[in-house]
Amino acid sequence: MGETVNRPAQPGDLEEVALRDGTSAYGLVSRLNHWITAGAFLGALGLGLVMAYGGLAREQVFALMDWHKLLGVTVLFYGLWRIAWRAVEGFPEPAAQMPRWQEWMSKAVHLGLLAAIVAMPLSGVLMTVAGGRALGVWGVTLLPSPGEIVWLDAAASTVHAYAPWVVLGLLAAHIGAALKHHFLDRDATLARMITTRTIPAPR
Ligand code: HEM
Ligand code: HEM
Repeated sequence: MGETVNRPAQPGDLEEVALRDGTSAYGLVSRLNHWITAGAFLGALGLGLVMAYGGLAREQVFALMDWHKLLGVTVLFYGLWRIAWRAVEGFPEPAAQMPRWQEWMSKAVHLGLLAAIVAMPLSGVLMTVAGGRALGVWGVTLLPSPGEIVWLDAAASTVHAYAPWVVLGLLAAHIGAALKHHFLDRDATLARMITTRTIPAPR
């Protein structure tokens, strides 16, 4: 098997669905991990913002809450596996040459988003159970409450209410950068998070 690259396929290339990351490519596991957590995270975030600021009636907020919790708990459990996988694989090299500060920013934003994948749902779970309520979806209890723990409820509620604004900033930078790389710089940054890898034809 030759060296893996990110360039348009050429006649004779082998199309291989690699599971693990290469030095400059994301394998199938990383790509699935990214899009599954991104979808569930954006869903939970969107619902949370609509619940809080959408001007909905109480019953409408209640109706969305179970979906919010289900997506959030999914992010927490799937996210722990996703972070463990990233810790084992490390980050691939950037897909394109860029100034040092951009490389650092990109790494900082990625680490911030990985932290948010745990901090957002964990604070949601903690503020629920420390508020004296069992964590449940559609009447099914997932985690009973240990009883009211006032300081933990207050700390978790503060994180859950304010962290979304930081996360929105990180996501604006993250998605904005992905679109800039794709449409302005026309490099492989976004493509390699979506498409399969191409193995150069053996010489
Ligand atoms: C990716 C995961 C999650 C994200 C991004 C997220 C985001 C949000 C946002 C943006 C709000 C509105 C905050 C505000 O009041 O200003 C909210 C509210 C809320 N979230 Fe989450 N959340 C997540 C997971 C969870 C989980 C797992 C629970 C579990 C119980 C939960 C429970 C709640 C509750 C109870 C509220 C309403 C708080 C209130 O009454 O003000 N969230 N969430
Ligand atoms: C439409 C939305 C999104 C787009 C277009 C997008 C795009 C991308 C791209 C192109 C990369 C590769 C960057 C590189 O190779 O340097 C990437 C990596 C990454 N993205 Fe996103 N992303 C989105 C949503 C999200 C969300 C919601 C999160 C987390 C809450 C997230 C977390 C990450 C992380 C942690 C990485 C680093 C590699 C990894 O561990 O997967 N992304 N994203």
